[in-house]
Parts: sequence; structure tokens; C-alpha cells
Amino acid sequence: MKTIVITGVTSGVGRALVEVLCEKGEKVIGVGRSSDKLDRLKNTLEDYEENLHLYQADLSDMATVNEVINRITDDFPFGIDVLINNAAIVPKYKRMSTDGFELQYQVNHLMPLYFSHRLEPLLRKRKGTIITTSSGAHKKAAFDKHDLQALKKYHAVRSYTRTKLYNLMIAQILKEKYHPDINVFTVHPGRVKTEIGTKDTSLLYAFLWRLFTRKGFTPREATKTYLYLIYGQTVDKDALYFYDAKPASFSSIVNVHDSQELYTISMRQLNLK
Ligand SMILES: NC(=O)c1ccc[n+]([C@@H]2O[C@H](COP(=O)([O-])OP(=O)(O)OC[C@H]3O[C@@H](n4cnc5c(N)ncnc54)[C@H](OP(=O)(O)O)[C@@H]3O)[C@@H](O)[C@H]2O)c1
Repeated sequence: MKTIVITGVTSGVGRALVEVLCEKGEKVIGVGRSSDKLDRLKNTLEDYEENLHLYQADLSDMATVNEVINRITDDFPFGIDVLINNAAIVPKYKRMSTDGFELQYQVNHLMPLYFSHRLEPLLRKRKGTIITTSSGAHKKAAFDKHDLQALKKYHAVRSYTRTKLYNLMIAQILKEKYHPDINVFTVHPGRVKTEIGTKDTSLLYAFLWRLFTRKGFTPREATKTYLYLIYGQTVDKDALYFYDAKPASFSSIVNVHDSQELYTISMRQLNLK
């Protein structure tokens, strides 16, 4: 039985991953921001009560995340096999987190790094795997080290694509740093029929999102690449970015120099060494 931590489990791809992995008999540790939604998820999956462990934490508030990671560390001292950094947002308007970062920058970028770093000791105990959900949209992003949080002129999609680019850049550094004890991958789940583009946004944006994803994968179909990375026997451990259960090409602007700089700045912002 594998022990698997997933963030953002109360809807979309994260929720589908919880369902599928519970059905496979794994021990699933889910993190979500809404207590009500977590309660509903628990009730729906009552057959898996013994193996499903749900924790409430808002990724836009580092104190609650810190608390939950401490609890997970205490509750699962024998280690974890997989960390899936899945939670993300695309709010239409610029907002700052309680920790003083642009919200997408914190939830989509800083928190995957924080979870990966803090859970590294538990992952090492099991020769674990870190999977961070990026997006094909990262290919549209530019890297501007003088405006990492895209604060100068906020645009929801621009900030989103940048954070998804950062997912790859950070994974590139962690892959090297943790090799060969922990595998590090990023995933593009494809275009998926979820509600991400309808939350905290305008009616027009929500409408356009529904139109855009109308013919997309179901969240369950979108679990394919994650399952491949968790169970596949022939996974190319050197590859960084996966789509449709195989390595895929990623933005040519991803390079070790910029990634290292982003990593150093982000670690400093998280007060980590
Ligand atoms: N859908 C697509 O076409 C697509 C394409 C490429 C990549 N992705 C990526 O796939 C991943 C999953 O997205 P999705 O499409 O499944 O959307 P989703 O249904 O909105 O899932 C995102 C999850 O993150 C959670 N979350 C958001 N803010 C949080 C916070 N502050 N603290 C804790 N949890 C938080 C959400 O909680 P609530 O349930 O409370 O909202 C939700 O469970 C994301 O990383 C996204 O960027 C999606």
C-alpha cells in the first residue's frame, strides 16, 4: 500500500485522484481549503474511511499549511511514497495573500515548493516521488526575474501561465537536488472539464472557460498520467514533463540558470534554507 499526499482534493483532478487511488487501496492524505467540502468528500468516500486522511489548510495562509505539514509529519512517521502538488487558482483580480504574495504566486508556485521541501524527509524514507501539476499553458509564459509575481500589470492568465512555468523550473532544480533518492516530475493533465476557470472570476471568464473545456477530458480521464508515473514500470526517470502518460516537450526558455535563481529567491521568500 502506497501513502500518497495530494493538495487540492475537493474538486476536479485532485478529487478524481483521491477517488481512483482510494479504489486502488492506497492510503490517501488529502489537503483541502474548505472544511465543508472536505466533510462532503469524506461522506462520499465512507467505504474508504480507514485509508482516507483529510486535512484542512488554506494554501494562501502559510501558517495553516505549516501546521498541517507538522501534523502529517507526526501522523505518518514511516514516510510517504508520493506527493502530488495539485491545488491551483486563476483569480481574475489581483489579490495578495496573508503572507504578502500575489495569490497565484503563493498558491500555484510557492506552496508546491514548500510542500516538497518540508515533506522531503518523509519522501526520502520511501524513495518517493514528487508530481507537480503544471500545464501546457506554461509554454505561453515569459520569465521576468524583475517582476516574478507579475505585479506590474496583473492579468489572471498571464500570472497563471507564469506560475505553471515556475512549476517546471523548480522541478528542474529539485530533480537534480534530490537525485537519485526522490523522483521529481511535472504533469500537464490536458484540457479538463473542471471548475477552475469559474472560481473567483467574472461571468464572462467563467462562460469562456466552460466553452474552452466543453470537449475536454473528465477529471477521471485526466488521472491517466499520474497513475502512469505512480505505477508505470518503464517511466523515464530523467524526464521532467509528462503529458498523456509519456514525456513531452516543454518551453525552450526553461534553463538551469534562471531556474536556480527562481529557486533561491523562492526559498528565501519561504524562509527556508
Ligand atoms: N482543468 C484544466 O484544463 C487544467 C489544465 C492544465 C492544468 N490544470 C491544473 O490541474 C490542477 C487541478 O486543477 P482543476 O482543473 O482540477 O481545478 P479545480 O477543480 O479548481 O481544482 C483545484 C483545487 O485546488 C484547491 N485550492 C484552490 N485554492 C486553494 C487554497 N488556497 N488552499 C487549498 N486548496 C486550494 C481547490 O479547492 P476548492 O475545491 O475549494 O475550490 C480545488 O480543490 C491545477 O494545478 C491546474 O492548474 C488544469
